[in-house]
Amino acid sequence: MKIFIDSADLEEIKTGISWGIVDGVTTNPSLIKKAIEKYGKGNFSMEDYIKELLRVAGRLRPVSLEVVSADTKNMVIEGEVLYTKFNYVANNVVIKIPINPNIGAGNNFDGLLAAKELKNRGIPVNITLVMTAEQAILAGKIGADYVSPFIGRIDDFLRTNANLPFKKSDYYSEEGVYIGDKLLEDNGVVSGVHMLSMIKEIFENYRFNTKIIAASVRNARQVREVALLGCDIATVPFSVLEDLIIHPKTEEGMKNFIKDVEEEYKKIFEKGV
Ligand code: E4P
Repeated sequence: MKIFIDSADLEEIKTGISWGIVDGVTTNPSLIKKAIEKYGKGNFSMEDYIKELLRVAGRLRPVSLEVVSADTKNMVIEGEVLYTKFNYVANNVVIKIPINPNIGAGNNFDGLLAAKELKNRGIPVNITLVMTAEQAILAGKIGADYVSPFIGRIDDFLRTNANLPFKKSDYYSEEGVYIGDKLLEDNGVVSGVHMLSMIKEIFENYRFNTKIIAASVRNARQVREVALLGCDIATVPFSVLEDLIIHPKTEEGMKNFIKDVEEEYKKIFEKGV
């Protein structure tokens, strides 16, 4: 499974890449806002920042950049602008388009139409804000390069609807959660990972070439769960990337090994090779 970093923070991206485990980057307007606030708004131009981000990611790591409009015409224009302005830097730009940009104007299918048009123009697309397998089917049907089901936000939705208190990083069982004898569900979906498993199965049924990016991943255990499903990619925040390597028994074992090293054994290394 490929691992993308879900961040627009240059330091986080550089560090993740330096660890040798990051295969791509996903951004969204909220992540760009967070990064710009961290590095000081007005200290640099947004265009230069994005160019640097693409350079840091490098030619072999796709970087998703999102459009900001909610209608086909403008999403296509923005996708073209982002691709033309930035793809030459490292040939790694993917345009992120919301599956349904409707915020009250009735333009439910404008995202799909925009994505299709960008595909026709040879621009790769990542369909985002996917919250159902049904939406993912549509992304597969139009031949999107990537589809991003938001597994953590589905868990949030289930917990919030049931008035369960939770922290963003809290684990939510892939098998769902019972309140008494009632299993929490959203139209037959019992967790974000469950939704992802449905999408995986459907895509296999129809041999869709669209790569599935498990998005909105909130903890290390979910990375394991989506890997077990055979998901193509998991995009994870920096904190989850860090958590992937942690276990208290590894730390304890390391301390004990260091404590036990024989002096004679250490001498082997003194003169080098
Ligand atoms: C994916 O591409 C999105 O940027 C992201 O995973 C959203 O995650 P969040 O629900 O933690 O904001």
